[in-house]
Amino acid sequence: MARHLITSAIPYINGIKHLGNLVGSQLPADLFARYQRARGHEVLFLCATDEHGTPAELAAAKAGKPVADYCAEMHAVQAEIARGFRLSFDHFGRSSSPQNHALTQHFAGRLAEAGLIREVVEKQVYSVKDGRFLPDRYIEGTCPNCGYDKARGDQCENCTKQLDPTDLIDARSAISGATELEVRDTKHLYLRQSALKDQLDTWIDSKTDWPVLTTSIAKKWLHDGEGLRDRGITRDLDWGIPVRKGDADWPGMEDKVFYVWFDAPIEYIACAGEWAEANGLSEEDWQRWWRMDKGADDVRYTQFMGKDNVPFHTLSFPATLIGSGEPWKMVDHLKSFNYLNYDGGQFSTSQGRGIFMDQALEILPADYWRWWLLSHAPESSDSEFTWENFQSAVNKDLADVLGNFISRITKFCSSKFGEVVPGGAGYGEPETAAISEIETRLKRYEAQMEAMEVRKSAQELRAIWVCGNEYLQTVAPWTTFKTDPEAAAAQTRLGLNMAHLFAVLSAPFLPDASQKILASLNVDKPIWPDDPTTFLDRLGPGHTFAVPEVLFAKISDEDREAWQERFSGQRTG
Ligand code: 2FM
Ligand code: ZN
Repeated sequence: MARHLITSAIPYINGIKHLGNLVGSQLPADLFARYQRARGHEVLFLCATDEHGTPAELAAAKAGKPVADYCAEMHAVQAEIARGFRLSFDHFGRSSSPQNHALTQHFAGRLAEAGLIREVVEKQVYSVKDGRFLPDRYIEGTCPNCGYDKARGDQCENCTKQLDPTDLIDARSAISGATELEVRDTKHLYLRQSALKDQLDTWIDSKTDWPVLTTSIAKKWLHDGEGLRDRGITRDLDWGIPVRKGDADWPGMEDKVFYVWFDAPIEYIACAGEWAEANGLSEEDWQRWWRMDKGADDVRYTQFMGKDNVPFHTLSFPATLIGSGEPWKMVDHLKSFNYLNYDGGQFSTSQGRGIFMDQALEILPADYWRWWLLSHAPESSDSEFTWENFQSAVNKDLADVLGNFISRITKFCSSKFGEVVPGGAGYGEPETAAISEIETRLKRYEAQMEAMEVRKSAQELRAIWVCGNEYLQTVAPWTTFKTDPEAAAAQTRLGLNMAHLFAVLSAPFLPDASQKILASLNVDKPIWPDDPTTFLDRLGPGHTFAVPEVLFAKISDEDREAWQERFSGQRTG
């Protein structure tokens, strides 16, 4: 049994995420976690809300609430929606947790002791009208790299370039829109990432199985000198983790907090501590996932994220871990995604464009979205959601292929043999051929899932469902029954066993449908079909079942048009 530590990029607390966010991190991470659990491995799957920084402060101010209250409420909202999408986190933590406060301050202390932090008096934008410094997202302006006019002070969401607020052209306050900005002195801490450049380079070179997308972004930041500029890790904000050196005060830094991108990835570790606390477990129980000296040496750690997050996970966070001089577990595989676009443009939280997670669940259950998003995951390039494509995938793949197979075989059996797996003859040539094809495809499906090739896994899974339909079409038990009921019984028995197999294989993609099929087949403890030949004989003669309800309703043209219309504008509420 292997041990898999899996983390999804932690979503910002400010508001409900859209489907583009979901498919770039939480959903594929869930697919992988469910798959590894189904294979019998030990999994710790962690996610959390990213609660600090200017986005949280700005959103709370807009909602007219104290930021701590706002974060607590939004955490509950996001957790509920995650449950709705069946995201199977072992823990959904909060970057504002006491564990993350302590650990972030601990790392800062270690980095300082290692001489990797320098204090810098820097010039920072100050808004006279707002009476405060304007870090990061408190400033908007035009990106000096690509000309995008809504670039934020920390990063341009259009070209992913990491920015400093003073880089922006035509800068304005995001609070008041004021352009009367001055530059004043303020003291900050900088992480000397540049001192770790060679170690990071060697470490990245050792990751030969990373996707090209991940490595190329990492290398770009490493070698064009940009990503390894020493980074400021503190901010002039009220909300955040107070700057301390471990347990000790940090003279001169009393009114500052750590930068959100310093503490957010540390939450991956802190979240394991929160998980242990929530489950009455000990310090050793979470440390065996994270500390190489406490048993994490046999853990395989996989991170999931959108491409804009890659520089922080390949450079900044590893710099924190390496720089601490402590034996923390580092990521083994980093799966990154391109962007999902929405109907000819970008999904955008700030502009309310696209479909948001709560809205998606209002119109259709999770499996429909999970299937479309995963089978169209933006892996090799950006991909695009269109309602036509969504309708077609749901109707063709889910309703016509999987749903139809399950309904056809269970209904046929029920009408001719009752709700019980029939005996009849042994399996013959067509059965052996179908089983052999499933076996070949199953090996490919497993290989694609192991490699986190999300789209290819979906295609292979669908091809396995198709094998079932083709088999039924070829042997036609409804015709066989008229002349040879014993042979028809064997064909039906194999069909029902295929339904069982499909339910198990589909569970990582379609947890609800899988559960419904398994419940109707009276299977409570599914196991993985390591040997498909034996597995396809598991439901033996006499095993009872019930015909399930329709698994997937087709999307009509009227529904599609109505949704297209409803989601054509900007989200307002
Ligand atoms: O891009 C985002 O949504 C960030 N909140 C991701 C943070 S991931 C990590 F660092 F924790
Ligand atoms: Zn840009």
